[in-house]
Amino acid sequence: MSELDKINKNFVEKLNKIKTKEDLQNLKSEFLGKNGFVTNEFKKMSQFNLDQKKEFSIQLNEIKNSINENLSNKLKEIEKDEINKKLSDEKIDITLPIRSQQEGKIHPVSQVIDEISSIFSEIGYSVAEGPDVETEHNNFTALNTPEDHPARDMHDTFYLEKNKRILLRTHTSPVQIRTMQKGKPPFKIIAPGRTYRCDSDQTHAPMFHQLEGLHVDKEITMAHLKGCLNYFIQEFFEIKNIKMRFRPSHFPFTEPSAEVDIGYRIENDKIFIGDGDKWLEILGCGMVHPNVLKNSNIDANKYQGFAFGMGIDRLAMLKYGINDLRSFLKLISDG
Ligand code: DAH
Repeated sequence: MSELDKINKNFVEKLNKIKTKEDLQNLKSEFLGKNGFVTNEFKKMSQFNLDQKKEFSIQLNEIKNSINENLSNKLKEIEKDEINKKLSDEKIDITLPIRSQQEGKIHPVSQVIDEISSIFSEIGYSVAEGPDVETEHNNFTALNTPEDHPARDMHDTFYLEKNKRILLRTHTSPVQIRTMQKGKPPFKIIAPGRTYRCDSDQTHAPMFHQLEGLHVDKEITMAHLKGCLNYFIQEFFEIKNIKMRFRPSHFPFTEPSAEVDIGYRIENDKIFIGDGDKWLEILGCGMVHPNVLKNSNIDANKYQGFAFGMGIDRLAMLKYGINDLRSFLKLISDG
């Protein structure tokens, strides 16, 4: 075997064992580098005569080209192996069960607030807001609630200071006062929000939600109130001709006052809203008391209005069949 064949054989044997780019680079230097086997063969050229030189250089170049070709093929092979390895290492195993996740959903109370707001916005009401921390004046006095009214009792109200001037609002009605004191009539607003009372059992929570409504203008009558609430209740429960009644009641801030009941029946432990021979109270309402208008600097001879207030949590429970108020306050659902 000639020297060149030996070099070539040696190269091929070594090449077959190579697995990395680094080793391949070293092999290249070993054969084609400055002191490489092939390069050294070129140096021998000077010993030959012209014909031998020609012959030798042809053979040498053939070997050099074949080594170069083998090196570049091997490089491609190594790179391909690298990509394949990466792909198989990073492959996503879609058969693996997913980690359990808590999926976020809109809270039923927020959803009901959105639904009610959009129903009232259809008939021209805008949304007003007031703070949870109120003055005793806005929460009671301006709403014509006498000093000795039971609602002012410590058992009912969270007072935030000793002399009882600041409290957590017990209802959303103070937003009526804030709205009327800020602007000029007419007013047509709803005000959803959090309200607080010292109360806690299956159907009462110390924090709950109410939605207030107020419409003040010239020539507003109780017929408008009835029409408005009738429209609202039908839209909210999505039941045409829902059975409802106005029952005389008393609130310090309205005169006359009424409570609205809707008809329902129970079948197989399930509640059906809209008909039946039972009545369920769902809101309080009435014509705004002239004293409330006066307390907000509105001429009660020129303007009248109606107001209403409803418990949002209860409406959400009725609409979505939720039977324990406390489930609204759970941080994480069991399901
Ligand atoms: N604020 C009353 C309550 O918390 C509800 C209410 C009744 C609001 C009559 C009103 C109304 O605006 O006119 O029980």
